[in-house]
Amino acid sequence: MEHLAVIMDGNGRWAEKRHLPRLMGHRAGAEALDRCMHYCKAAGIKYLTVYAFSTENWKRSEEEVSGLMKLLSGFIRSKEQTLVKEKVAFRVIGRRTDLSEKLQAEIAALEEKTRGGEFTLVVALSYGGRDEIVRAAMKFKGGTEADFAACLDTAGIPDPELIIRTSGEQRTSNFLLWQSAYSEYYFTPVLWPDFDQAEFDKAMESFAKRERRKGGRLGR
Ligand code: IPE
Ligand code: IPE
Ligand code: MG
Repeated sequence: MEHLAVIMDGNGRWAEKRHLPRLMGHRAGAEALDRCMHYCKAAGIKYLTVYAFSTENWKRSEEEVSGLMKLLSGFIRSKEQTLVKEKVAFRVIGRRTDLSEKLQAEIAALEEKTRGGEFTLVVALSYGGRDEIVRAAMKFKGGTEADFAACLDTAGIPDPELIIRTSGEQRTSNFLLWQSAYSEYYFTPVLWPDFDQAEFDKAMESFAKRERRKGGRLGR
């Protein structure tokens, strides 16, 4: 597998179960992301895309939104050295103009510093599949599907073979609408902060058993 995408859901419920503030769940979720990146690298995966904040998530309380933004900028600052050392390219997809100018500058600086890494971590931030398609349509001058894909935020990134969603919800919630045309889905009731190596292995095993026909017929 070249590209795995994850809808990291269930941070809030993870915290609520423990009578902790939701933000503690997001913090635990950031640690789960760190671990997941290592599982991916060990499995030979080249791209990991994670849904961190959707265009709809702005509707949450001011407290949760600002806490998440702080967590993100903290993640960027604290991870810089490790990402460079481990040759991880960092990339953001989404409507980044929604983010504060400071956060936009931090993101651009980290993307620049980590350019050309062997593994790519793509973070979907203020991301909505419909929004991405509309912005791409405004840039599109006509042509083929490949020409259109080159106008998307994910230009140059292969489509994900597998999309995992944690926490038991079974919907896309506006994630990678164009890119998921032929992606396999894997749903697990496990909450994102609890997603561990055993869960990752289960998802990989499930994927390995699937027959991906992509509209054709195998064996003919
Ligand atoms: C996913 O966890 C992370 C974000 C959307 C930022 P949630 O915050 O949606 O967790 P639940 O779904 O409320 O448990
Ligand atoms: C999707 O989760 C977005 C992220 C994981 C960042 P949500 O929790 O926001 O989605 P819904 O509301 O359950 O559809
Ligand atoms: Mg959720």
